[in-house]
Amino acid sequence: MSTKEKVMEELLNSDDYISGETLSQKLGVGRNSVWKAVKQLQEEGFDIQAINNKGYILKSTGDILNREIIKSFLDKTDDREIIVLDETDSTNNYAKDLARKGAKNATAVIADCQTAGKGRMGRSFCSPHGTSIYLSIILRPETDMETCQLITSCAAVAAAQAIDKVCGTDVKIKWVNDLFLNGKKICGILTEASVNFETGQPEYAVVGIGINVKSIKNIFPEELMNVATSIEDETGKAPSRAEIIAEILKNIDILTKNLSDTSFLENYRKRSFIIGQRVSVSKLGSEKNALAIGISDNAGLIVRYDDGTEETLNSGEARILPPLHF
Ligand code: BTN
Repeated sequence: MSTKEKVMEELLNSDDYISGETLSQKLGVGRNSVWKAVKQLQEEGFDIQAINNKGYILKSTGDILNREIIKSFLDKTDDREIIVLDETDSTNNYAKDLARKGAKNATAVIADCQTAGKGRMGRSFCSPHGTSIYLSIILRPETDMETCQLITSCAAVAAAQAIDKVCGTDVKIKWVNDLFLNGKKICGILTEASVNFETGQPEYAVVGIGINVKSIKNIFPEELMNVATSIEDETGKAPSRAEIIAEILKNIDILTKNLSDTSFLENYRKRSFIIGQRVSVSKLGSEKNALAIGISDNAGLIVRYDDGTEETLNSGEARILPPLHF
């Protein structure tokens, strides 16, 4: 950890002024290094007050994305690797690269901006600077590929619970992995995995979560504004991105510890607003209308087609159709 990171950690853990002398003794560095670190942090936008004979205090963290701030919301014993970037093409790409190089389970990559954010089905994911959470988590599931597919639904529940806890919202899930607030999308999830062909076991999975936190008005392209929204636009409040990220990391840890324990699906079903709705199912290039009737035990969408046949969908997409009027 650099002196700047150590100073940040000390300031985050202190409710009162902490003197330069105390910091210098605690961290085993000179007073000048402490002063330089504080200056750097102030230049990065941290609201640190310095008062003669008293020392330094962190007045507020604002909404800066920073490793120490995220860590301050996690358990002290949580020693996972957290990488925070100002900008990258896609946090999923960055995380996959780290996973290939051997990064450990639970490693998290976060960026303030993505220049080539990826959505499902080869689509792009609008990823402007300073508004959202772009988070990718490396998982090394000790399970077969079929069970591994539950990761996306686990992540949907983990993110929905985290947002509700921090923001007091009632986030809904649209199969398979979109989170909605007041009928519009606030979050998308893209999971990518690498399989060992000899064993058929997953080597790693990267679950990528994108959440619109601050207002996206005048930032997102007009055509997205009919379908997308943000937490601030719906609640009038802009929560701390770091706190939401930390809650997601904690939830994902718990939910993915034993993927065969599918009790999280109860929460998934409760949040699902697709059940009972007419949907257009797109699969392998064709579209068919159906009624969404349930979520299966492997997080598939159970649909009944107009000819009465039923199917459990484990891939593809289901677009909600407007209600029929007679
Ligand atoms: C979708 O809605 O189609 C899925 C969007 C997933 C976006 C996230 S943002 C973090 C991670 N990095 C990416 O490039 N994509 C995912």
